[in-house]
Amino acid sequence: MRLAVLVSGTGTILDAMAADGLSIALVIADRPCPAFDRAIAHGIPAAVFRRESFGDNFDRVGYTEKITGELEKQKIDLVAMAGFGTVLEKPIYGRFAGRILNTHPSLLPAFPGWHPVEDALVRGVRVTGCTIHVAEPEVDAGPILAQEAVPVFLGDDVATLHERIKEVERRLYVKTIRQFVEKSLAEEAAK
Ligand code: GRF
Repeated sequence: MRLAVLVSGTGTILDAMAADGLSIALVIADRPCPAFDRAIAHGIPAAVFRRESFGDNFDRVGYTEKITGELEKQKIDLVAMAGFGTVLEKPIYGRFAGRILNTHPSLLPAFPGWHPVEDALVRGVRVTGCTIHVAEPEVDAGPILAQEAVPVFLGDDVATLHERIKEVERRLYVKTIRQFVEKSLAEEAAK
């Protein structure tokens, strides 16, 4: 299965995927970012699709079409979002139905959205965690594939708690992608 990874941030999850030997055919970033630089450093084909070139009123459908077109051109089978900062529109979820995965740093359905670590701290929960799920048009709402709890310690701030969650994400996402690929290949073989 040809895997593509979508990124926008520091790229430590992408790094963990590459370090664990996952074969990554393509990395797409929605902005220049350390994750893109990590892809280049690993020798992975990578591209930056800048949002700015899609107008002041961001043409989200046009941007989604561009990414979807590139994924199809590169014959990608499975897409893994790893800290990707752009909400994509319906076309990609039609053409890659059930084949787009995402990791989110909370125990969904708790704390969906853009500030899950901060929201967990503000709410004062003692346990949070991460969720690997199949991505769907509704953000952070797709079928859950794996979850793991992470303790919140007194004195934690967003940085310390997020890094503790990421340690789990780096391991759990790689394991879940491998299981997803194995299952998909077995289903394919059984046809
Ligand atoms: C992860 O916590 C992911 O759940 C969130 O963004 C973070 C990406 O981390 N959406 P990195 O860029 O791979 O270090």
